[in-house]
Amino acid sequence: MNINFKSIGIIETPYMDFAPYQPVEEDNGEFKIILNPEYEEGLHKLNRFKYIYVLYFINKVSKKPELTIKPSWLGSFAPESGIGLFASRSPVRPNPIGLSIVRIKKIEENIIYTSGLDVFDGTPVLDIKPYIKDLDTKEDANHGWLDDVKDKDHLMLHIKGIPHDY
Ligand SMILES: C[S@@+](CC[C@H](N)C(=O)[O-])C[C@H]1O[C@@H](n2cnc3c(N)ncnc32)[C@H](O)[C@@H]1O
Repeated sequence: MNINFKSIGIIETPYMDFAPYQPVEEDNGEFKIILNPEYEEGLHKLNRFKYIYVLYFINKVSKKPELTIKPSWLGSFAPESGIGLFASRSPVRPNPIGLSIVRIKKIEENIIYTSGLDVFDGTPVLDIKPYIKDLDTKEDANHGWLDDVKDKDHLMLHIKGIPHDY
């Protein structure tokens, strides 16, 4: 079955050909979700929330998806046997849909200003949803296979863009 989606806007970021692997909350530069003006009414009361889910089309992927991968950010720490694509956040997927949770800084007309997003400038937006306390927070969430990675805590600092001196 083929499914057609349409872009409802675009994301503007400072990243032209490099973006962090996950959102870096306090990254430099301006991050904006510019909704097509016909959707502006749909933003009513979104500013009551602190965080949103942003779903987008990872449009500049040229590689073919593989079902077992070694995530590049792990470098030599990647598990020898690799990991399943669907146990990863790789952007190279059968349906290249990205999901990021970001903080709303302000909303003006059809533009949502956010904390750092991990996408290239010009990425098409598929949907926006509020991140709702208790409904979306799982107190017993875990790190899955990441617990088996040597130096996991250090790698996580890199992924989150948290400065450290070791
Ligand atoms: C690992 S993905 C994670 C995306 C999202 N946070 C998720 O978990 O679904 C983020 C990476 O996708 C790549 N990327 C971002 N925007 C892209 C675009 N429009 N086209 C192709 N690749 C993109 C960048 O290399 C970035 O580091």
